[in-house]
Amino acid sequence: MEKRESAPGRIHLAIVRRIPIYNSMMRVTLFGASGLLGQDLVQELKTEQLTAPSSKDADLRDRDRVRELIRDSRPDWILLSAAYTDVDGCESNRDLAFAVNCEGAVNVAEAARETGSRLMFLSTDYVFDGSKRSPYQTSDARKPSSVYGESKARAEERLLEILPEVCIVRTSWLFGHGGKCFPATILKLASTRPEISVVNDQRGSPTFTRDLASALVQLCRASARGIVHVTNAGDCTWYEFATEIMRESGMAAVVKPVTTAEFPRPARRPAYSVLSADSLHAYNVHMPDWRDALRRYLGNAAASVVP
Ligand SMILES: NC(=O)c1ccc[n+]([C@@H]2O[C@H](COP(=O)([O-])OP(=O)(O)OC[C@H]3O[C@@H](n4cnc5c(N)ncnc54)[C@H](OP(=O)(O)O)[C@@H]3O)[C@@H](O)[C@H]2O)c1
Repeated sequence: MEKRESAPGRIHLAIVRRIPIYNSMMRVTLFGASGLLGQDLVQELKTEQLTAPSSKDADLRDRDRVRELIRDSRPDWILLSAAYTDVDGCESNRDLAFAVNCEGAVNVAEAARETGSRLMFLSTDYVFDGSKRSPYQTSDARKPSSVYGESKARAEERLLEILPEVCIVRTSWLFGHGGKCFPATILKLASTRPEISVVNDQRGSPTFTRDLASALVQLCRASARGIVHVTNAGDCTWYEFATEIMRESGMAAVVKPVTTAEFPRPARRPAYSVLSADSLHAYNVHMPDWRDALRRYLGNAAASVVP
């Protein structure tokens, strides 16, 4: 608060807001650095002042440890990429899903409030049930149909209450070089089988973790807040994604379209979970098409995955 003389004898109080300037080096604390997205975030943040605790160093469920770490690092931004991401595993481990994805996120948000740090929380297209047939807007009501989706949806609600300035980034269908992902699985199967069956009745947007990491850092610099949808542009079914992987990699396996009903899994997946990019474009950030992203992924992956 600044006390300022305006006219003789009259004093008014002007609130001097701390307006963050992120055109210099940012202090960032990243949870989930060992994950698929986390590894690309570490690369993307290498010119920033980065603290990246492992899950052993700071389990999200350990409130005191999370507080201590954030108090010590005093970040401008906290990127919360860590999560229990086994969608089928969440169905039989509901308590763990909520403890990590919801209560863990709450621990981080409460610590962020104490230090005045901004928080970016990674969320998912699975907060929707997939009954729409046009891209989901950030204003659409959450309606998860899996425990994983529920835990993330509840976390979103809690974080918005605790930190009105939180930035919630919903993304979908991640692939990248940092771990197991759909293209790597398809390439592996195609090297040992003549035919691969892939579901053709779930539509979404594949997202390259390298493109996502770049967009997230741009959003931090733009001081983004609220809900933002960030995926590669365009959409496809898993069958169409697999077909494109085969075409681009020049492998011979035949991809056969099947239905979700033919391959039941413990967790329900949305039949349609394309996320509108309007909220991202509002920050003048644009994502490449998923086919372009796949080509770049395969260009890098070719040496290690395809003999
Ligand atoms: N993958 C997708 O298709 C997808 C789609 C939409 C949204 N998302 C969201 O995007 C984010 C990144 O996903 P991802 O695929 O990169 O995840 P990931 O590869 O499964 O990595 C998860 C990360 O979270 C850490 N972690 C797990 N439990 C923890 C705990 N209790 N305390 C602290 N850290 C813990 C893991 O550490 P360890 O390695 O030590 O276990 C790992 O670094 C997640 O929030 C996810 O929900 C992912």
